[in-house]
Amino acid sequence: MHSAATSAPRPRRFTAAGPLTGRIRVPGDKSISHRSIMLGALAVGRTRVTGLLEGEDVMSTAAAMRAMGASIERLPDGASGPEWVIDGVGVGSLLQPKQALDMGNSGTSTRLLMGLVASHAITATFIGDASLSKRPMGRVIEPLSQMGADFTAAPSGNGGGRLPLTLRGIAPAVPISYRLPVASAQVKSAVLLAGLNTPGITTVIEPVPTRDHSERMLKGFGAQLSVDVAPDGTRTIQLVGEAELRPQTIEVPGDPSSAAFFVVAALLVPGSDLVIENVGLNPTRAALFGVLRDMGGQIEELDRRNVGGEPVADLRVRHSALTGIAVDPAVVPSMVDEFPVLFVAAALASGRTLTTGLEELRVKESDRIAVMRAALELAGATVTETADGLIIDGTGAEPLPGTPEGAAVSTHLDHRIAMSMAVAGLASRSGVEVDDTRPIATSFPVFEALLARASRAEADGAA
Ligand code: S3P
Repeated sequence: MHSAATSAPRPRRFTAAGPLTGRIRVPGDKSISHRSIMLGALAVGRTRVTGLLEGEDVMSTAAAMRAMGASIERLPDGASGPEWVIDGVGVGSLLQPKQALDMGNSGTSTRLLMGLVASHAITATFIGDASLSKRPMGRVIEPLSQMGADFTAAPSGNGGGRLPLTLRGIAPAVPISYRLPVASAQVKSAVLLAGLNTPGITTVIEPVPTRDHSERMLKGFGAQLSVDVAPDGTRTIQLVGEAELRPQTIEVPGDPSSAAFFVVAALLVPGSDLVIENVGLNPTRAALFGVLRDMGGQIEELDRRNVGGEPVADLRVRHSALTGIAVDPAVVPSMVDEFPVLFVAAALASGRTLTTGLEELRVKESDRIAVMRAALELAGATVTETADGLIIDGTGAEPLPGTPEGAAVSTHLDHRIAMSMAVAGLASRSGVEVDDTRPIATSFPVFEALLARASRAEADGAA
């Protein structure tokens, strides 16, 4: 069950601590973890996964795949940590779930699973928490309806293509060629996953590249998938349907989106020199690190290698003086989840940081433009909100004042707001009070423990 749905809010004040030092490892990549479970559940035979993110969002995916027939189990810790074993049912053999699928806070679970259900002859109702129930599902309803699936909103629901929704899938579904109207890996993946059990060729045309984990992993599981890149960068992805997936052994690399909070914290806190091991650096995900380097951040890649078909390195991050920049909107899809913490870096930089092209941030777990504007202002930063971004005038390394006595940042059930403002607290005079830390467990359950460890490492003499 999702902690934010079942317990009382857990406020916390994050205050300046010692420098971040030593070596840490962040949990597995959320996007890859979701897909490991989904594809494992559709393969015939046993898939083994190490490094799986054991966050609430991924557990929502696991519970849903179990409800549709897969067996998914966590084996006790082995040499490389816990191993998850997934016995799949095979493409085309998902079972009708007996109860509504509770997606908790997870947009990725919802949209990708809608793709899977759409081309099976089963009916599933999707429900979620208050944050998820506000998020637009029209973007997947549109292509999946073209494939023949049928969506009905609950009479008591929010309407306008929002949860709760009941989806009646169809087999055989109709293969489509779909040009993405928004740069969204979730929409792309929903169509491709629906295409797995659809006769013929399903095509997705992607004018702006988004994270490509689905393409890499579908190929890894043995699906016939091709990607053509036109001279203008448009990608055409074609998948041959009625695929047979072969079980895989997967090692999930560390999540760059989780590493991001520690990278920014180490850049901001004087004296920090931190190594974050095993960080996924897929180019469709890693743009934040380039932007921070352009701002003057010292971020070194050590031991670049391949883990589970993804580029990975250890990142050594040292405290740095940052300078504001205008962020090129072309990089937005490759760091779409990292803007909240980039805003925190910008608030401590010298000069102005200008971000544009961030409309998609308004439909994440919260409206991340408005919510971060309010949060940073409460902590004493100088921020201006525009229709598609924030303009931030940084302090030039002076700590932020912090949130006033009796006031707390509103996180709106958004894990990345909570973690970003925790990082702001480390770089503040009086600390930053966050109204609720429970949402952190959706993507990064060990965040607070790791933060305590990294800031204590020096005092303890640990390297
Ligand atoms: C994700 C895609 C992104 C991202 C989300 C995970 C995925 O969403 O924000 O955290 O795993 O495909 P959009 O596709 O809505 O941009």
